[in-house]
Amino acid sequence: MRILVTGAYGLLGNEISRVIEMGSCHLGKIDRLFSEAYLIKTGSSELDITNQSNVLEYISSIKPDLIINAAAYTNVDGCEKNPERALLVNAIGAKNLAIVATKVNAKLVCISTDYVFSGEKKIPYREYDLPSPINVYGKTKLLGEKYSQQFSNKHFIIRTSWLYGGSDTNFKNG
Ligand SMILES: NC(=O)c1ccc[n+]([C@@H]2O[C@H](COP(=O)([O-])OP(=O)(O)OC[C@H]3O[C@@H](n4cnc5c(N)ncnc54)[C@H](OP(=O)(O)O)[C@@H]3O)[C@@H](O)[C@H]2O)c1
Repeated sequence: MRILVTGAYGLLGNEISRVIEMGSCHLGKIDRLFSEAYLIKTGSSELDITNQSNVLEYISSIKPDLIINAAAYTNVDGCEKNPERALLVNAIGAKNLAIVATKVNAKLVCISTDYVFSGEKKIPYREYDLPSPINVYGKTKLLGEKYSQQFSNKHFIIRTSWLYGGSDTNFKNG
């Protein structure tokens, strides 16, 4: 199996790549299907997901079986200041990947966020709750989800809350 990780040098992409390379995480060994996979790690310098022709050319040549999209513009305040970039990376980038994933018959994992909800609900959110994002980050991530659903015929959407890990920019100093 061939696995392509986008945003592989970010907080989550780095951890996902490390777990695949190590073949285990703190919960134990991962399936051999993944630990024995050929892993392709890309940052924006190798694969800018906003560049449609770049995405098409790169992924068509690699032909991954699984694409894990961990690339995003995650700076919530930055998204308010630069909504065009947020839209481009979080929505159009996701769309570019979904289109090519279908073309090469790859499964697509779209990492999303609890920011697709307003946060006003007093009890835990469920998958079937209607999204109601209140900021640019949430709105563009939701659009990325919709594009992933619309353009990829084998997609998985994972909505996670605040991630933590070894990066200096998250949780420790964030
Ligand atoms: N961090 C959290 O607490 C949190 C919570 C909920 C959901 N999420 C979601 O989890 C996913 C991963 O988040 P993270 O915290 O790991 O983010 P991160 O540390 O900010 O990493 C994101 C990566 O995306 C890459 N990237 C940005 N623009 C790109 C582009 N145009 N083309 C290709 N790569 C690009 C960046 O690479 P370069 O530096 O090379 O540009 C960066 O390494 C995101 O979808 C995010 O929305 C995160």
